[in-house]
Amino acid sequence: MKGGTKSGFAVRLLQWYERHGRRHLPWQVDPTPYRVWISEVMLQQTQVDTVVPYFERFIARFPDVESLASASLDEVLHLWSGLGYYARARNLHRAAGLVLRLPGGKLPDALRGLMTLPGIGRSTAGAILALAHGQRHPILDGNVKRVLARFYCLREWPGGAETSARLWQLADDCTPTERIADYTQAIMDLGATICTRANPACGHCPLNADCGALAAGCVDDLPARRAHTARPLRRTHMVFVLRHGNEVLLRQRAAQGIWGGLWAPPEFPGEDAARAWCVSMYGTALPEPQRLPALRHSFTHFDLDIEPWVLRLPRDSVRVEEPGSVWYMLQAPLSIGLATPVRRLIELCAADDQGMIQESADGKNGLLRAARPRSGRARSRAVSG
Ligand code: ADE
Repeated sequence: MKGGTKSGFAVRLLQWYERHGRRHLPWQVDPTPYRVWISEVMLQQTQVDTVVPYFERFIARFPDVESLASASLDEVLHLWSGLGYYARARNLHRAAGLVLRLPGGKLPDALRGLMTLPGIGRSTAGAILALAHGQRHPILDGNVKRVLARFYCLREWPGGAETSARLWQLADDCTPTERIADYTQAIMDLGATICTRANPACGHCPLNADCGALAAGCVDDLPARRAHTARPLRRTHMVFVLRHGNEVLLRQRAAQGIWGGLWAPPEFPGEDAARAWCVSMYGTALPEPQRLPALRHSFTHFDLDIEPWVLRLPRDSVRVEEPGSVWYMLQAPLSIGLATPVRRLIELCAADDQGMIQESADGKNGLLRAARPRSGRARSRAVSG
């Protein structure tokens, strides 16, 4: 039965959506396939409140596929700076170029066609077609997986092939034949606002009468987590080279790998390598580098500790700028893509200039008294040690 195997899954969800769902988000105002595509990619792993201002800036600058395809990747990454998971921005840019080469030059309006584009998987393709065209397709993003795993009390880890296939089948069963766009938004909203991972509001859930996990008393345990594997910790050293106190040397990172194509301070495996590089670039008469508080940045599969060292070049030294590097003025930011921890490091430097970094007792590691990250969802934080 379409629309839910247990009494009126979709009906109850749609009734709830009319009163409590989100119906005035910027991409819902004029849900063209292009706008829905951009919003769905931004919403992958990122909350609505964080996405809204990024979406508005992005659409103002790139209102259509043509403007996105003809922009430089640097500019696209700049507008993505702070949103994280930068492969999404690189894929959008590449996909825009591919779309223009399709017959008609438009985003495909069928599942298979959409899924050939980089960064569009089955769930994102289904969401685009449901929200922009009203086509009936199930979706299965993180929110929907959680709602279904709880409602049907599936105790297995949803990432396994069999459980994933079962969830797709249930997602299909629950999707009604009418009001597809509303239903699609409704189930995502329920997952994001009521059936949350921590502190689910089961008392307000329109599906609580039939929820398997609620009846079994295991809502907090579902969806099941994967058997625990320790997150490896990687370390790196970064060096900031400042000149005249207000410029920072940044280099563009290789296209592949972490933060591909974004700009970051030169990175070294250790202090000796950093010093050798500085001496080769700027000569021997260099002051001692100063260490700023370490930052820990969490990626999906590992943590990265960043140990920033600041080296202030003498005012009369030659200001070397190699190809692929820029001197970034702290007070006059350039339009280039910066990952969240690099933005944070730049803020640390600016804070340091204003005497807002305190030395700790051992003289090695400072404590930050002020300077908070601009973005509320920055995933990097200062660590001690
Ligand atoms: N997550 C992915 N797509 C979403 C949407 N359209 N609304 C809310 N959360 C989402």
